[in-house]
Amino acid sequence: MQAWRASLLRFDADGTAVYDRDGLLVTAPGPQGWRVIVAAGDFATLAPRFAAVPLQHLPGRILAPGFIDLHVHYPQLDVIGSPAEGLLPWLEHYTFPAEARFANPEHATELAGLFLDELARHGVTTALAFSTSHPASVDALFSAARRRGLRLITGKCLQDRHSPEAVRDETEQSLLDTEALIQRWHGVDRLGYAITPRFAPSCSEAQLRGAGTLAARYPDVWIQSHVAENRDEIRWARALFPNSRSYLAIYDDHGLMRERAVYAHCIHFDADDRALMRQRHTAAAVCPTSNLFLGSGFFDFAAAAEAGFLHGLASDVGGGTSLSPFRTMLAAYEVAREGQTKPGVSLPATRLWWLHTAGAAAALGLAGVVGNLAPGCDADFIVLDPAATPLLARRSGQARSLEELLMALIVLGDDRAVVSVHVAGAQG
Ligand code: GUN
Ligand code: ZN
Repeated sequence: MQAWRASLLRFDADGTAVYDRDGLLVTAPGPQGWRVIVAAGDFATLAPRFAAVPLQHLPGRILAPGFIDLHVHYPQLDVIGSPAEGLLPWLEHYTFPAEARFANPEHATELAGLFLDELARHGVTTALAFSTSHPASVDALFSAARRRGLRLITGKCLQDRHSPEAVRDETEQSLLDTEALIQRWHGVDRLGYAITPRFAPSCSEAQLRGAGTLAARYPDVWIQSHVAENRDEIRWARALFPNSRSYLAIYDDHGLMRERAVYAHCIHFDADDRALMRQRHTAAAVCPTSNLFLGSGFFDFAAAAEAGFLHGLASDVGGGTSLSPFRTMLAAYEVAREGQTKPGVSLPATRLWWLHTAGAAAALGLAGVVGNLAPGCDADFIVLDPAATPLLARRSGQARSLEELLMALIVLGDDRAVVSVHVAGAQG
């Protein structure tokens, strides 16, 4: 066993943040071959039970759950910051050309390593990530994540139409490749597979149907895609699938809405779409820096909470502008505040943090597995320095409540505040 004494940020079952100013975190090797949390809470209460365990004392530091990025494209590191008139020109001019390079497995391996290095630097310990349409891009990311002992979910992009040849796949082969990748990787160590139709406009009816068949055959595999991001995209999707009630309903009509399905964006929804998300236990990955950068619109946090469907935060790099959860939480606050096109709400910092940790885990169907410091959870946690920069030290020192402390971190924090990252499956 190992123990750390520091401040602890964790969440109870209803999502309320709990802060132990003087806390104790104890981890031990778990039954599945990676470390798990044995105890997390108040130091004075817990210390007698673990008096014999080697202890690291980190005064002034905060232990927090590793962040979860609910939607990110590892092949798009070379696309960040590419300006375009909107989603569709951005895909055509920057994204598809960058993804075409992943036909080369060496390029995929290089970028997979860089991607996981960057996630770690920013305190992200789990991601639901897109690969490209090339199966070798999936092998590259899974191999790299496995070596690091990470819990990571990815899948081969399905896109058999309306895509340049270098990234387009072939319907039947794409489904065979998907099933082979599920069998090769899903459930190996901490890895999980996601069936990944890129978005309805890039998939034929037959490809979506095949994806839905696989989703039914492998119910504990994830599903990820995009929906209702941009008005031009929505018009296009509706024209291609005129029999579906809405863009979201296209996925439902093909068996692609269920638990463990995560749709990025979900901006331009009506009340029926929101009700369908809730009924199907399907989750939204909210991508505020991407939506601001590409001019896509503002996710309606108030309507999502009222409708009661699962949602959490995501970077959507390379449409998104940063892998930093601090930047994503700040943008989420600003997008939620926007009150001209929808109701503006002021999300508490504790809620923003939850949406990027325990709430994101719940969206993945992984509550109690990752995203929290609680007994039984995988031991994925980060050590934060609330005095990482002079101004952050000053503002966090002035905080009179947990809310003020976390908001100072969200607004002023960045990778400099992430002192170290502990991954449950890491060797040594
Ligand atoms: N829709 C289809 N593909 C993509 C993508 O790569 N990024 C974003 N933001 N939206 C998409
Ligand atoms: Zn995306």
